[in-house]
Amino acid sequence: MNNLELLKVYEFDNKVRYGINTDGGYVLGEINNISDINNTYDCYISAGVGDEESFTRDFINKYNMNEYNSFCFDGTVLNYPYQYTKKISFIKKNINIFNDDDNSNLDFLINKYNNIFLKMDIEGGEYPWLLYINEDQLNKFKQIVIEFHGITNDSFNCNYNNKIKCLEKLNNTHYLIHAHGNNNNFVVNDIPNVIELTYINKKYFKIIPNLNTKLLPINGLDFPNKPYTDDFNLCFYPFVNLEFLNIQMCKINSIDTMFNLNIDNLDYLKIEMIDKITSFKEKEATELCKIMYMNKSDKGSIDIFNAKHNYTIFYQHIFKDIQYNNLRIFELGLGTNNINLPSNMSSNGRPGASLYGWHEFFINSKIYGADIDRNILFNTDYIKTYYCDQTNPHIIKNMWDGEKDLCDEFDIIIDDGLHEFNANVCFFENSIHKLAKNGYFIIEDLIINEIPLFNDKINYWKNEYKDLIFIILQMPSRINTFDNNLLIVKRF
Ligand SMILES: C[S@@+](CC[C@H](N)C(=O)[O-])C[C@H]1O[C@@H](n2cnc3c(N)ncnc32)[C@H](O)[C@@H]1O
Repeated sequence: MNNLELLKVYEFDNKVRYGINTDGGYVLGEINNISDINNTYDCYISAGVGDEESFTRDFINKYNMNEYNSFCFDGTVLNYPYQYTKKISFIKKNINIFNDDDNSNLDFLINKYNNIFLKMDIEGGEYPWLLYINEDQLNKFKQIVIEFHGITNDSFNCNYNNKIKCLEKLNNTHYLIHAHGNNNNFVVNDIPNVIELTYINKKYFKIIPNLNTKLLPINGLDFPNKPYTDDFNLCFYPFVNLEFLNIQMCKINSIDTMFNLNIDNLDYLKIEMIDKITSFKEKEATELCKIMYMNKSDKGSIDIFNAKHNYTIFYQHIFKDIQYNNLRIFELGLGTNNINLPSNMSSNGRPGASLYGWHEFFINSKIYGADIDRNILFNTDYIKTYYCDQTNPHIIKNMWDGEKDLCDEFDIIIDDGLHEFNANVCFFENSIHKLAKNGYFIIEDLIINEIPLFNDKINYWKNEYKDLIFIILQMPSRINTFDNNLLIVKRF
């Protein structure tokens, strides 16, 4: 589908579900808190009834509506299913763009009421009706829950361009605050072909809301239309804000920044590699998340998007193919629990946490580490650690040159030490020669304000080190927009 921006979902915290927990129930926004003006609805319209009206029942009960201000329309059913509610007037007509014995364009209600709630599921009839009504009329609708049919193509007696016009029209007057794919149908390029959308009129917002960052579908609020079948995942643009859950943007930035793209010097090998590195889809806690969490390292957690750092979803992606190889892995920063040292892990810290974690994940590899705190250095059969101060080039050089076990190159080098720009640069420039071909050098916890400094430095490094590629990855997190960032360097 083109015009994806028309399906951008905006943030709205106060969502509830009315109706059954399958086809027929919908998620709506409780708008009571976002406006000073009259909070209630003066009219409820259910367009398309079928035999299931649990949503209408719940809405009418909640908002204390009655048969004088609640109306339902469906020319295809003999009787209204009054077992759900009797507080509604049934009009046995279909929604259309004109009025006659069998059809209604809803004008008589739109002209009379100003704060209407509309629930509409009319098998494609939504398009001609939306094309027919004008903006003033649309503005009479305070909230709309609507199922769009065949939104990705020409179908349901409406061509694709007209469907897009309907979305445009709604976007002029309303904010889309919720989307849920109907899994009775199919997806086209990840976009559900039949989709339930919830709109709230813009006039009830004091400021333009942010884009939605909550995962969709929402656990406990959304349910599959087709029971016992997985709901469609909508955790990507335009439904969920890119910066949180989608890495595509970083990918584009990094290509732009690193290679000054122009047609003459396009380096497909580099681009392909960047694409591979950044196209990770892991959106749930991975094996490595669990391992690092259990070992008390803060590289990842089980609740990945509410953790301070969640590098382990990314690490799983890039390391899974080499997990059982015989690698040499080095990490700077063991995690001191001496609270007087900078970048400590508090008195509860477990020195060596991530090294133990790496050993558990890379079972055939040799793990090495270093730290400025001599008191926490340790050795086991499979882990060896050394003294290093990453702010001092001589000490770094002495470590690399003076230790027999550190002579050979490394497949992975991670800087999780002091987390200061100059210290990162010092360690990188005095250690990058230790990185093997195809190896990764990763600097963790880049502070967001220092990313411009890193970008400048990378512009210099990319000329110095022609066999390296550089990618800055801003990892998605709900709670950490400060330093949940990685610089990934790969030698090719
Ligand atoms: C965040 S902790 C490392 C956590 C560990 N990697 C983990 O995931 O469990 C940072 C470590 O960097 C060490 N550090 C601080 N300044 C340093 C320096 N100048 N050179 C080397 N290590 C330093 C601290 O002593 C501390 O142990």
